[in-house]
Amino acid sequence: MLENDIERVLVSQQEIEAVAEKLGKLITKDYQDKTPIFLGILKGCLPFMAELMKHLDIYMDVELMAVQSYHGGIESTGDVKITRDMDIPVKDRDIIIAEDIVDTARTINVIKNLLLHRGAKSVEVVTLLDKPEGRIKSFDPKYIGVTIPPEFVVGFGLDYEEKYRNLPFVGILKPDIYEGLSEEENHG
Ligand code: PRP
Repeated sequence: MLENDIERVLVSQQEIEAVAEKLGKLITKDYQDKTPIFLGILKGCLPFMAELMKHLDIYMDVELMAVQSYHGGIESTGDVKITRDMDIPVKDRDIIIAEDIVDTARTINVIKNLLLHRGAKSVEVVTLLDKPEGRIKSFDPKYIGVTIPPEFVVGFGLDYEEKYRNLPFVGILKPDIYEGLSEEENHG
């Protein structure tokens, strides 16, 4: 079972559901008179985006972008690559970016700057997890679900070598799962 690879649950399924409901209500209130683009950053955003959407009682467009930064290892390499772009123009639109985690904040800075450069009216971020101690670039997401310590986490969208995204909670992987990898593999 997938759960056997997990040392400890950090954010339970129940907590995630409560967080999504709380953030959904806040965003609904803030965007009542707007029709934003709700933009998910693949692939990690998927479970949280779906959970949060249930609680957004507003007119909105749903869009997806794919960006890669970790390349399967446990630490960010600093490379941010857009592998799938949005389908509709963002000029003069309010955008809410949905993320699973803001860590170094390299990814979110690149995306936010790109959207502003394309003429977006506003760009805000909702993230399930915030890891402020991981920051390399400064960034303050407007809507934060849970602030976590600087540990490598998987589940609810977050992967280790593309696995564990389908866990219904966020947890810390047992070290022996990634120990034994070479230094190079460890850093993606
Ligand atoms: C993860 C996550 C964020 C980003 C956060 O995506 O979903 O987009 O890294 O890290 P940062 O703040 O250090 O930039 P990843 O590139 O691993 O792709 P994935 O969502 O497909 O797993």
